[in-house]
Amino acid sequence: MQVLRTVSELRTWSRQQRNTGNTIGLVPTMGALHAGHASLIRAARESSDRVIVSIFVNPTQFGPTEDFARYPRTFDADCARAETEGADVVFAPSVDELYPAGAVTFVEVEGLSQRLDGASRPGHFRGVATVVTKLFVASDADQAFFGQKDAAQVAVLRRMTTDLLLLATRIVVCPIVRESDGLALSSRNIYLSPDERQSALALSRSIRRAESLVAQGDRNATTLIGAAQEIFAAEPSLRVDYIELVNWETLEPVQIAATGSLFAVAAWVGATRLIDNTILA
Ligand code: PAJ
Repeated sequence: MQVLRTVSELRTWSRQQRNTGNTIGLVPTMGALHAGHASLIRAARESSDRVIVSIFVNPTQFGPTEDFARYPRTFDADCARAETEGADVVFAPSVDELYPAGAVTFVEVEGLSQRLDGASRPGHFRGVATVVTKLFVASDADQAFFGQKDAAQVAVLRRMTTDLLLLATRIVVCPIVRESDGLALSSRNIYLSPDERQSALALSRSIRRAESLVAQGDRNATTLIGAAQEIFAAEPSLRVDYIELVNWETLEPVQIAATGSLFAVAAWVGATRLIDNTILA
């Protein structure tokens, strides 16, 4: 496995792959790789001839009071994991490489970027859309793999690729990987104390509750959101950011869950913000 640091090295490598007829799968990450990331790398491995894992803690998607500086950075372990899962290249550029001095150009997906996580993290999706555009253009990938864990991110990126005609790179969405007790894997779970880790289970519990209500035929947003509010209320150390039933394409609220509706929650557990969701059947 090769580690590439510059856009020019990545372009040269991609061009060589294309010239020899190989398809390219891209897995964008911020590192601190866990089994959720690993599932994306395996999915890429299964359907592409060559796999790029990008590792870049993207400063523009963090707010001024967020955890950019202390975000976990475990580069050597990440490279070992990426190689084990079958990556051919780790692309790990510096900030200056992806944001040339004086950079003032950003990608803004209007409307969607202010919904769900974008409402409490102003500028977050602008940073995500900008860096993912750069990664798509630099890698020239045929497919890019994202987790349903960040369902609003997927909606923003789908809209962006349609609007910017970046359709040469197909977005593939992979299921949420969870711990055996239900907690969705996240690089931020390492911030949780044992007590917080226990409280955090309210998120996956609220997701399962929504799924079982819908399975019983209860599709009303008021009921689904109310049931989740009750579960969160039983965990006083938890502060709800949002509980929403939305259309997964537009991220606009819906009153009655339809097939493919997104039920999503976000909450602060101490200083750590966690998210979870389900796409309703
Ligand atoms: P990061 O949080 O590192 O996540 C990288 C990818 O892994 C995302 O597509 C995310 O949805 C997926 N992922 C995270 N936890 C997962 C889980 N438990 N199960 C399945 N997939 C999971 O998302 C980002 O980085 C950044 O915003 C990025 C797209 C790289 C742009 O900077």
